[in-house]
Amino acid sequence: VPTHSFDAFIIGGGIIGISVALELRRTLRNVAVIDRSQPGREASYAAAGMLNVIDVTEPPQFSSFARLSAQLYPAYIDDIRSSTSFHIDFQRDAALSIGGEARGERLDETEVANLEPVLATGGQPVYRIVEDWVDPRTLMPAAIDCAKHREIHFVTGSEVTEVVMQRDSVQGIKTERTTYAAGLVINCAGAWSERIRGAHTRSRPVKGQMVSLLPAGESIRHVIRAKDPDVYMLPRQGGLVAVGATVEEAGFDKSADPDTARSLHAAAAKVVPSLAQARIHQTWSGLRPASPDDLPVIGPTAVRGYFIAGGHYRNGILLAPATGHVIAQLVAGDECTLDLAPFSPQRFK
Ligand code: GLY
Repeated sequence: VPTHSFDAFIIGGGIIGISVALELRRTLRNVAVIDRSQPGREASYAAAGMLNVIDVTEPPQFSSFARLSAQLYPAYIDDIRSSTSFHIDFQRDAALSIGGEARGERLDETEVANLEPVLATGGQPVYRIVEDWVDPRTLMPAAIDCAKHREIHFVTGSEVTEVVMQRDSVQGIKTERTTYAAGLVINCAGAWSERIRGAHTRSRPVKGQMVSLLPAGESIRHVIRAKDPDVYMLPRQGGLVAVGATVEEAGFDKSADPDTARSLHAAAAKVVPSLAQARIHQTWSGLRPASPDDLPVIGPTAVRGYFIAGGHYRNGILLAPATGHVIAQLVAGDECTLDLAPFSPQRFK
């Protein structure tokens, strides 16, 4: 096989691109992932990793997508673990919601005090939700290592400038320096998806800032989602607590500002008072990939062999396994587990 010719070329080495590559590699030999910088260092690195299906209700097809992906998660993690020795921090059934709508099992004060002693309820109802979480900063390196063990080829530090097509069929991709031939191209370039010539999709970045806190004493044991203040937090290795997030239309600006870090810290301390004494360990931000209607963009384009897997917005980590799954079904011409009509890339004409 010539070095520059592949069965499938995946643009974007985030969690979506890697998950699509892993699925396609089951049947295709020469699969490549190209990333404009380092794989897994953009939105997937910034993400919280809540695998929550409860906040995603509209439209119904979206919640089926979220539910399917949440169901696939344990097997997806096992599969990655079978080809890497990297540790993945994945926890089952460990989420609480406070002050939100009635979901899952309502806990009384004693149960709350036993399960999550650092939580201050302020009389608000607390629900235990059957929901998993994963630390994306452990998932990403593991998924990339797994992909390398499965002989998926990586091209890094090269920006794709064009999806090359001839008549109505994809021929490959172009970077500033090189042209790669491929009969299949999947655009998984997140917020950058539309910035490629011939992209046939729409995308915009929606910035999210987060902080991690180092508690002075006991840490949290669950994902905690609060409504008032509107804040979520997740346990991280070493007793850290990740707190998020802002939702900002700020273009490709990724700066994290100290005032926002302070207000996230203050919001977290309202829910878990002992966090008032915590130190801010790190601040960061990421660019969520959103489409014009904020729904995912998944499916074939008008160009044969060229597919889009994007627009995952606030749910990319959750939706990665199901995205890989349905893209593999589409590519194989199999019937799709999900109704992808609401996510069609062709809706933006
Ligand atoms: N999914 C978490 C966020 O978008 O903030």
